[in-house]
Amino acid sequence: MLAPNVLARRARTFGRGFAVTAAAGAVTGLAAAAYGLWEKNQFVLREEALPILPSGSSPFRVLHLSDIHFVPGQDKKAKWLHSLAGLKPDLVVNTGDNLSHPKAIDPLLSALSPLLKFPGVFVPGSNDYYAPRLKNPARYLLGPSKVEKRELELDWPRLRTGFGSEGWIDLTNRHQSLALNGLRFDFSGVDDPHLNRERYAGWPRGTAGQDSKPHLKVALIHAPYQRVLDHFTDNSADLILAGHTHGGQICIPGFGAVVANCDLPTWRAKGLHDWQNNGRTTPVNVSGGIGTSRFAPIRIACRPEAVLLTLTPQAQSQDS
Ligand SMILES: [Fe+2]
Repeated sequence: MLAPNVLARRARTFGRGFAVTAAAGAVTGLAAAAYGLWEKNQFVLREEALPILPSGSSPFRVLHLSDIHFVPGQDKKAKWLHSLAGLKPDLVVNTGDNLSHPKAIDPLLSALSPLLKFPGVFVPGSNDYYAPRLKNPARYLLGPSKVEKRELELDWPRLRTGFGSEGWIDLTNRHQSLALNGLRFDFSGVDDPHLNRERYAGWPRGTAGQDSKPHLKVALIHAPYQRVLDHFTDNSADLILAGHTHGGQICIPGFGAVVANCDLPTWRAKGLHDWQNNGRTTPVNVSGGIGTSRFAPIRIACRPEAVLLTLTPQAQSQDS
């Protein structure tokens, strides 16, 4: 049996070790948080090329925005969004979660005003309907979160009207064709699958052999749940665009996302990948998103991004 003085010495040693470890953990946590606050404003443009256009077509540039999560006062984000108009895209696609504050609609529309001059299409996410609530951050790591009742409602009709009055087209459970740069685009969009609101509108009429010209079928989703990717792949989509995941938002350097906030595998939480179902393959671009949750306003190893997809002719890619 140890003498009382030995026990006391060991207890003091253990206590000092615990205090040092706790202090180191706190310093590391604060440093990570400070870094994450910095990274959330380090906006990048991810560029991708995709050979899916009919042979002989000119390249077509799609600017994909998602998960802006705008809050009044986000001047850096607004300035960067303004600057994206310099890309002169042929089409802007917005896959939802535009807001994180009830008073964000006017400053968001102002930030997007140069991009609203270009042709655009959009679908909403849950953060266009409901303002975020403070939740236990650990729940983020426990799997897909559920939108709870009694969340503060946002004025989505006003934002939708703001987009629409400038010419962007609402694809919430709708389809619509657009002629752009001599190509016919058939769009089909759904309401947010994270809220189980998706209803499939099919493709615009005239796609089933009634029109000899090739059409490009593009599907828009906010949350890329597998059932929705399967549906659009089974129904011959040429391209699917989605958001929601934030690319994992807080990632492990060298490893990637820990969560996707839906049933998508974490390695697909951001990027351009092929989705396969029933022998069909469809390219899917999942945006890593531009913003963050208002109550977890950091990004680590996952910079906020817009995506410029350059669509090129199929024959061109085979020759190159
Ligand atoms: Fe989001």
